[in-house]
Amino acid sequence: MSMATHDEPIFLRVLAGETITPPPIWMMRQAGRYLPEYRAVRAKAGSFLELCYNPELAAEVTLQPIRRFGFDAAILFSDILVIPQALGQKLWFVEGEGPRLEPVADHGRLAEISRQADDATLSPVIETVQRVRQGLGRETAFIGFCGAPWTVATYMVAGRGTPGQEPAKELFNRDPAFFQQLIDLIVEASARYLCRQIEAGVDVVQIFDSWAGSLGPEDFQRWCIAPTQRLVTLVRARHPKARIIGFARGAGRLIPAYVKATGVDAAGLETEIDRGFARDEIQSLVPIQGHLDPLVLRAGGPELEAEVAAIREAFGGGPFIFNLGHGILPDTPIPHVERLLAAVRR
Ligand code: CP3
Repeated sequence: MSMATHDEPIFLRVLAGETITPPPIWMMRQAGRYLPEYRAVRAKAGSFLELCYNPELAAEVTLQPIRRFGFDAAILFSDILVIPQALGQKLWFVEGEGPRLEPVADHGRLAEISRQADDATLSPVIETVQRVRQGLGRETAFIGFCGAPWTVATYMVAGRGTPGQEPAKELFNRDPAFFQQLIDLIVEASARYLCRQIEAGVDVVQIFDSWAGSLGPEDFQRWCIAPTQRLVTLVRARHPKARIIGFARGAGRLIPAYVKATGVDAAGLETEIDRGFARDEIQSLVPIQGHLDPLVLRAGGPELEAEVAAIREAFGGGPFIFNLGHGILPDTPIPHVERLLAAVRR
């Protein structure tokens, strides 16, 4: 006998505009190194990238945090940099440091990688989606994702993460037409990729623009809003009802313009955003998701409880999905995650 009065997971009801108390919760990087069961599977896979391309193991780590904590949404285990890899760019991860790519700095390299664009590279990820869908209960939503064109381009140009995204900025200032070609390539590959994820069974997709905060208003319009708008349009041309969350991290006061222009269904919020502004100017437009500081979660204690209460107080009056403002830190104690869940669901 079931008590359920609604068919949809609460996560999707909030995305559709309902206010639900207590709010649904999931965490960015919820499948990750803070979990011993993740570390065990990753060791079995060999490396992070081998794990991303192993459908059986990637599905397993996607489901681990759902089994342990009962989050309201699962997020596909993969990485935003599989798109450059599918475009033919060499990608590897340096243990303890992060991603490395062979930089795309000139027209010759771009022509080379665009000639090699290959959707088959991503087929194992699509198989992961199918497997997770089969293993997921009806009450849990399933999130697919890609990186936003601007953020992916910053890695493609610099060949690694860069604090101020200078190499990408230097390139768009020096040769905007070339940078536009690169962005267009990413937009088209990402649109196909998101459509395939939707066709394989995700309920919603999130676009991660981790470096949106480093652009001034004009560059933000040109390199964040415009390409994201085109990505959303391409996905909805094929899947008119596609649900899309836009996370322009660090964009702060530019987020309302981003939401209006791109047509995303919900907005992710960084830790640093002003809560009054987010409630009045963003939550009034679309449901919001965020924004607990991962450092506060790691520290735990009464400060964690107080912060959760303050966030619920600020955003609980409208459609809100509880999350972190960025990914969980690998050395976060598991009991702190348990306390977070208890505080959010209290
Ligand atoms: O949220 C999830 O659990 C889903 C899986 C996911 C990963 N990366 C797994 C991952 C998602 C959605 C991402 C997105 C991603 N990847 C972003 C955007 C979000 C953000 O964090 O800003 C970016 C910029 C990347 C690129 C990337 N991947 C970097 C910079 C790093 C190194 C930093 C780090 O934490 O080590 C990665 C590696 C990565 N991606 C790990 C995981 C679980 C750690 C890999 C490991 O097991 O060693």
